[in-house]
Amino acid sequence: MASRPPSHRKILVTSALPYANGPIHLGHLVEYIQTDIWVRFQKLRGHECHYVCADDAHGTPIMLRAQSEGITPEKLIARIGEDHRADFAEFLIGFDNYHSTHSDENRELASLIYTRLHDAGHIATRTITQAYDPVKEMFLPDRFIKGECPRCGAADQYGDSCEVCGATYSPIELKNAVSAISGAKPIEKESLHYFFKLAQFEQLLRNWTGAGHLQAEVANKLGEWFTDGLKEGDISRDAPYFGFEIPNAPGKYFYVWLDAPIGYMASFRNLCDRSGLDFDEYWKKGADTELYHFIGKDIIYFHALFWPAMLHGANFRMPTAINAHGFLTVNGQKMSKSRGTFIKARTYLDQLNPEYLRYYFAAKLSAGIDDLDLNLDDFQSRVNADLVGKVVNIASRCAGFISKRFHGVLAKTCAEPDLYDTFVRSGEEIAGLYEKREFGQAMREIMALADKANQYIDEKKPWALAKQEGMDQAVQDTCSVGLNLFRVLMTYLKPVLPRMAEQTERFLGIEPMTWVNLAEPLTDHTIRTYEPLMMRVDPSAVTAMQDASKENLEPTVTATAPSVLADNPLAPEISIDDFGKIDLRIARIVKAEHVDGADKLLHLTLDIGGETRSVFAGIKSAYKPEDLQDRLTVMVANLAPRKMKFGMSEGMVLAAGPGGKELFILNPDSGAQPGMRVK
Ligand code: 2FM
Ligand code: ZN
Repeated sequence: MASRPPSHRKILVTSALPYANGPIHLGHLVEYIQTDIWVRFQKLRGHECHYVCADDAHGTPIMLRAQSEGITPEKLIARIGEDHRADFAEFLIGFDNYHSTHSDENRELASLIYTRLHDAGHIATRTITQAYDPVKEMFLPDRFIKGECPRCGAADQYGDSCEVCGATYSPIELKNAVSAISGAKPIEKESLHYFFKLAQFEQLLRNWTGAGHLQAEVANKLGEWFTDGLKEGDISRDAPYFGFEIPNAPGKYFYVWLDAPIGYMASFRNLCDRSGLDFDEYWKKGADTELYHFIGKDIIYFHALFWPAMLHGANFRMPTAINAHGFLTVNGQKMSKSRGTFIKARTYLDQLNPEYLRYYFAAKLSAGIDDLDLNLDDFQSRVNADLVGKVVNIASRCAGFISKRFHGVLAKTCAEPDLYDTFVRSGEEIAGLYEKREFGQAMREIMALADKANQYIDEKKPWALAKQEGMDQAVQDTCSVGLNLFRVLMTYLKPVLPRMAEQTERFLGIEPMTWVNLAEPLTDHTIRTYEPLMMRVDPSAVTAMQDASKENLEPTVTATAPSVLADNPLAPEISIDDFGKIDLRIARIVKAEHVDGADKLLHLTLDIGGETRSVFAGIKSAYKPEDLQDRLTVMVANLAPRKMKFGMSEGMVLAAGPGGKELFILNPDSGAQPGMRVK
């Protein structure tokens, strides 16, 4: 740990690198907002703190997406990189550097680290067998293989797990597997792969993970992984691949996950080259500076095991701490691209003030790895009640009197030194909470102070005093105290609300606020005219954002053809005869019931005009059973019955829409009758 005096810390901070093949969404922003608040807090406390990040630009999905758009991967990552930078800037994420893993610095550092690991005997090679697309002539990552689930038979499942029954398996086990890229049947093919021998670092990692660098729940999870045995990490991929070629291994490329974390170093190296900072001071073995990685809980294995081992094995320092957070849900639902429940950063920015979200996330964040929910009703009431109703209210109640009656000048002395002092002294506790990433608790402390400030104004009633003869001094005193308390609160909120803090500095006519310049209240000081610092959340903007998020995902061929098809390629072509074999019928849902133990399935009893069918359908996330009763749908009536985990399924219902919640069943007023043929 750092041996530097606590008053002068040197800190390097990273957030996980977003993939350069898709937009930033609110799920990503939990992490960037969390990290940014922490970094801004450190800077406000007077520490030297550098925050770097980059786009994670390599890998098969990026290569294929560029192909499907008919552009080079370089062009694709440049375009997406621009979008990412713009989104982050507007959310006020204050990176000191934002780089790319597809950079000279990263190529050099990845080669250096690999070569050191190789020379020290930490790399193994072995021939392995993998699924290969004979048409596209490339090895297929699991998510590019589709087929029928070996357990429940559900069609169109990815190569690693079944969305219907939850089974996990290897792509080889999929029935009737096809390449999602070409539609060809994959073959098995051998190739030489390179592995990082993680197990050689077991003792080091056991010591390190037990030494306070991780959250308790993360350290526990790691305990399980140690018990299961540390696996070798496959660090190579065969051409064609978008990435860096491995030194002395023609045709072999570093797997994206090898050079991604090295991207943290590369971004910092790039910053050093521009600013004169000393790279080694932050990365050499034994460095007494601090290094923190903020990540989501899904990538702990890479950051808490592989990454420290890679660093150590290549003679660099290990991280001071890995700070993992949970996932975002929206209105209690897991965010999912395919279900259309995700809101892009841009869609939010088109409608709403980024500081609303920064505050809402701050209010909900803790130092743990629990998921946090963005409930859109709660979001509005929380922002309105806390920021507008409590904090901004203090300034708006006091500023007018000072401007109109005292030429904008605050009282010569502070009329409530004890109250002011209480506010200043709370700063240490609030700082402690920020430091520990207990932002939710910090926000509660700050709002309790805001309540206190409002109570004070309520008791003094400057609006009533202003109507009385000879009470001018009391009005000036009260409003000056109010504005001083407001300044303290805005200092504490500055890591969360940097823009509103800047507006406050302009309004109060003061130097940038920091924790250390609070000791003295502002007296005999001229302020500017007050302008509203924050408006209430406009509910129609929230609705518009939700509507736009639905539109984002409509598979309209013109607007989003390349990306929709790249993410979800068309199934192999069928003939008109194949199509003719499908007997589609209108079915009335006689009964819809939950299935014990099934997360996604509903059990439907269907009437197809004289015959009843029992079908298990994976539509639970979209419909409540009671809402389906007596509705009409379309079913494939001549599908061979399939035995599923929960019983026999005699057909399949069709649902239209992007999936998840967004499935549209036939309109009950359509006049359709059970048994009608649909085509
Ligand atoms: O999971 C992801 O989105 C990765 N792109 C994160 C990489 S973080 C680091 F290792 F670079
Ligand atoms: Zn299944």
